Amino acid sequence: MKTAVIYFSYEGNCRLIAEQINAVVHGDVLALQLEEDKPRRGLAKYVWGGRQVVLHQRPALKPYTFESGAYDLLIIGTPVWAGSPAPALETFLEQTRISGKQVALFCCCAGGKGKVFDKLKRSLSGNTFVGEIVFMNPKNQDAKELAAHIHRWLEGFPGL
Ligand SMILES: Cc1cc2nc3c(=O)[nH]c(=O)nc-3n(C[C@H](O)[C@H](O)[C@H](O)COP(=O)(O)O)c2cc1C
Repeated sequence: MKTAVIYFSYEGNCRLIAEQINAVVHGDVLALQLEEDKPRRGLAKYVWGGRQVVLHQRPALKPYTFESGAYDLLIIGTPVWAGSPAPALETFLEQTRISGKQVALFCCCAGGKGKVFDKLKRSLSGNTFVGEIVFMNPKNQDAKELAAHIHRWLEGFPGL
């Protein structure tokens, strides 16, 4: 089973999860990066990100290479922004035709997943969803417990 782990992370939580997932699945990792990604803090960060969601913006990404045909399973992750996937991930999903794949979803949040999985499933229609999981600011969690949790989640996947 050839696997790709695809994610966007603004503050490192989804990156941590993607790295831990890939330590188990040994696939390829695609880290999506904003073309213009100056760091923002505090309220400015929420206004900037929330605005992208509300206005359905699709921010430009740094160039990447991804050939979906090379994979059977895609594990796709995003932070929750205003109850939605980060628009950077939606940029990728609009640019990249993905269908007929097994897809597992993860998100990182500070409070709740909102409509993240509903929205991602809509953007990824035509695929088979084999799993989804929510992490609460995992950078603040015990690393060993987190790794065990991820391991248990992946154990349930067919073919892994
Ligand atoms: C613009 C913005 C909007 C956010 N909106 C939500 C939200 O609606 N619900 C929530 O639980 N967390 C929200 N958060 C918190 C992040 O989802 C959370 O910190 C997540 O772990 C960040 O992942 P990352 O470190 O990979 O970027 C928001 C963060 C940002 C920057």
